[in-house]
Amino acid sequence: MDMGIEGRRALVCAASKGLGRACAMSLAREGVAVTITARTEATLEQTAAEIRAATGSSVTTVVGDIATEAGRAAALAACPDPDILVNNAGGPPPGDFRTWEREDWIKALDANMLTPIFLIRAVVDGMIARKFGRIVNITSASVKSPIATLGMSNGARTGLTGFVAGLARQVARHNVTINGLLPGPFLTDRLRGNAMAAAAAAGRPVDELLAERARDTPAGRVGDPAEFGDACAFLCSAGAGFIVGQNLLLDGGGFNSTL
Ligand SMILES: NC(=O)c1ccc[n+]([C@@H]2O[C@H](COP(=O)([O-])OP(=O)(O)OC[C@H]3O[C@@H](n4cnc5c(N)ncnc54)[C@H](OP(=O)(O)O)[C@@H]3O)[C@@H](O)[C@H]2O)c1
Repeated sequence: MDMGIEGRRALVCAASKGLGRACAMSLAREGVAVTITARTEATLEQTAAEIRAATGSSVTTVVGDIATEAGRAAALAACPDPDILVNNAGGPPPGDFRTWEREDWIKALDANMLTPIFLIRAVVDGMIARKFGRIVNITSASVKSPIATLGMSNGARTGLTGFVAGLARQVARHNVTINGLLPGPFLTDRLRGNAMAAAAAAGRPVDELLAERARDTPAGRVGDPAEFGDACAFLCSAGAGFIVGQNLLLDGGGFNSTL
């Protein structure tokens, strides 16, 4: 299938590892020039080299915290007029909401709600003028089905989803789409980290918990980040222009519902 995005430019945030990296890799495979960001330079450069070697596409790196104004400015300076924007950042920590102070909440809102909104604000009018834009927000299955220990994630990401539901319908007539990609369990550092915290709390081995997680998913396994990347590339394809304001759950069937 020709995705029809060869030669396009993408800004993929938080993309040295895990799901962001997979999105950048899949887009680069389609001939998209990608700008990738992360806070740790060594991992970011290594990932850039791997994407270049695997795809031959142009990869630009920007070191910085995307949840800060300076980090966003640096990313936008390197890629001022992207055709594709993939919003992503690290997720808030798990815990008990009784222990979270205002500062903790502000951090979560900054990373998982306000940063995507500010980046959309910076690029959406250019996309409208060029009559092509694809924006994908990496959120979480927790938007559809809250995860008890991830209250800040549940809250911040749902706020973003609500905002985008309105905006997506205002820009769609210009061939600019905004959609959410909702990961269930994908085998990344984040999943391992959450599993380690849960294992420590339960006094059980982490491998046992991960195996249980895989077994409890209808697909019988956790997701491969490459599968997530390919879904992202599809949402960014030229042919996906009629997919507007949707939230696509990639969870191996974990969310049990008819529709
Ligand atoms: N994996 C899952 O199963 C799953 C499920 C539901 C939701 N999610 C959510 O999906 C998102 C991606 O998760 P993942 O599993 O891919 O995580 P991951 O494997 O830990 O990778 C996170 C990536 O984002 C970068 N990053 C984190 N915070 C950043 C920031 N403030 N500015 C710039 N770069 C940043 C990291 O690099 P540096 O640390 O060097 O900056 C790394 O490249 C997270 O929000 C996570 O909560 C994941």
